Amino acid sequence: MNQIIINARVTFRNSPIHVLEKFTIRDMSCAYEELKKHSGLDECVIIQTCNRIELFGKAKKYDVERIKKTWASLTGLNQEAFSEHLELVENKEALHHLLKLTAGLDSMVVGEEQILGQIKNSITLARNTKASGQHLNTLFDKAIRIGTRIRNSSGIGRGGISVGSMAVKLAEENIDDLKFKKILLIGTGEVSTLVAKSLQRRGYDFSITSRTLERSKAFCEAMGGKPVKFEEVLSGFEKYNILFVATTAPYFLVTHERITNAMKNNHKGMMILDLSNPRTVDEKVATIAGVKLMNLDQIAEMVEKNMTARLNKVKTIENIINEEVTVLEASMKRLDAEPLVKNVFKNIDSLRIKELQKALQMLDEKDEKKIKIIEELTKAVVESIVSTPMNNIRRASEQGDSNILETAGKLFDYKK
Ligand SMILES: NC(=O)c1ccc[n+]([C@@H]2O[C@H](COP(=O)([O-])OP(=O)(O)OC[C@H]3O[C@@H](n4cnc5c(N)ncnc54)[C@H](OP(=O)(O)O)[C@@H]3O)[C@@H](O)[C@H]2O)c1
Repeated sequence: MNQIIINARVTFRNSPIHVLEKFTIRDMSCAYEELKKHSGLDECVIIQTCNRIELFGKAKKYDVERIKKTWASLTGLNQEAFSEHLELVENKEALHHLLKLTAGLDSMVVGEEQILGQIKNSITLARNTKASGQHLNTLFDKAIRIGTRIRNSSGIGRGGISVGSMAVKLAEENIDDLKFKKILLIGTGEVSTLVAKSLQRRGYDFSITSRTLERSKAFCEAMGGKPVKFEEVLSGFEKYNILFVATTAPYFLVTHERITNAMKNNHKGMMILDLSNPRTVDEKVATIAGVKLMNLDQIAEMVEKNMTARLNKVKTIENIINEEVTVLEASMKRLDAEPLVKNVFKNIDSLRIKELQKALQMLDEKDEKKIKIIEELTKAVVESIVSTPMNNIRRASEQGDSNILETAGKLFDYKK
């Protein structure tokens, strides 16, 4: 590839949740502005979920130190923090990784659906902020299509395993008689929906809260459960034995003080499952007697135990990805030829139009039908002469033959 595609990432694979959250980018618009100005990348897309913060970039040349420096400035971290946690791959490996993401193979819950939606949102935001361009837009559109196709044909996502169902299973394994316990969900987003679905399926009653009571009510209409006022919950955690916390709040909602107060009147104990990243439960609550705190790290362990059926499909999907990545790489290389090809077609077409107008003037032709025939003739002649060399240039580009591109550039007097 004339252009390099890079992927720089910090993920749950080599960073636990308390480390991962330090790399989290809080303000996406600002991040895109800074990356455009300082990273040295011509295009970039950020994928940020509870399990990963990833940067895809395109450049002719890149300097990883500049990328780290910009990322560090967005998070308040030192550049050194990246040495232990950052993975960096380029070109074919970066494309391969993106296909694993869209197919759900790199997810904590292999095959889960959420990541596909999150990637779609990421490329939409990058497009809207003009952080991505022709290369990354094409790459992401193709990767999303391929990932969807692989999911549909392999059935990897079937079977109802999700972060939500794993969290409920974790609660079941740690608490006796869950049916008789008071369960509360904090948050009405995607993850809470998954938890609620799983609770419903297993026949557990639960309450739900979110900052706006209306949202909780609407959630309950669709998912079951009982809506509770947010303020009531914050000052009355003692009513509950199990908390599932899944919000994007940028601070601790479940604080040490609130749980200490709650535990004065709660003699049955409390299990708190913080599914958020960044975490919304202060880890200090784990030191309070009778409180058991779990987070996404424990969910990851639970997932490993429950994935046998899905993991059997992984090898087949990996084989499909290996085939698809070759085709994807060829399409990306082909993009290198597009500016030249477009330029040649444009120049030749303006010459054609100029000469056509001259000829029509000399002929003093007024008959629309005849004018149309002559015009179509000029188009057909141009097309039949130019198409073959242009397709050959594209093919050479697909095969990574940059010499042909360079020579063609000289022949057609193309300046980048
Ligand atoms: N999506 C996934 O696949 C996935 C998987 C595992 C973990 N997670 C993590 O789980 C958390 C929730 O993710 P999600 O996908 O469910 O998000 P989401 O769909 O965007 O929902 C976010 C929820 O957070 C609540 N919220 C936001 N700011 C708040 C604040 N200041 N105080 C109280 N509530 C607040 C919102 O409640 P309102 O109704 O009050 O606005 C909403 O219910 C995130 O930390 C995410 O990283 C996500």
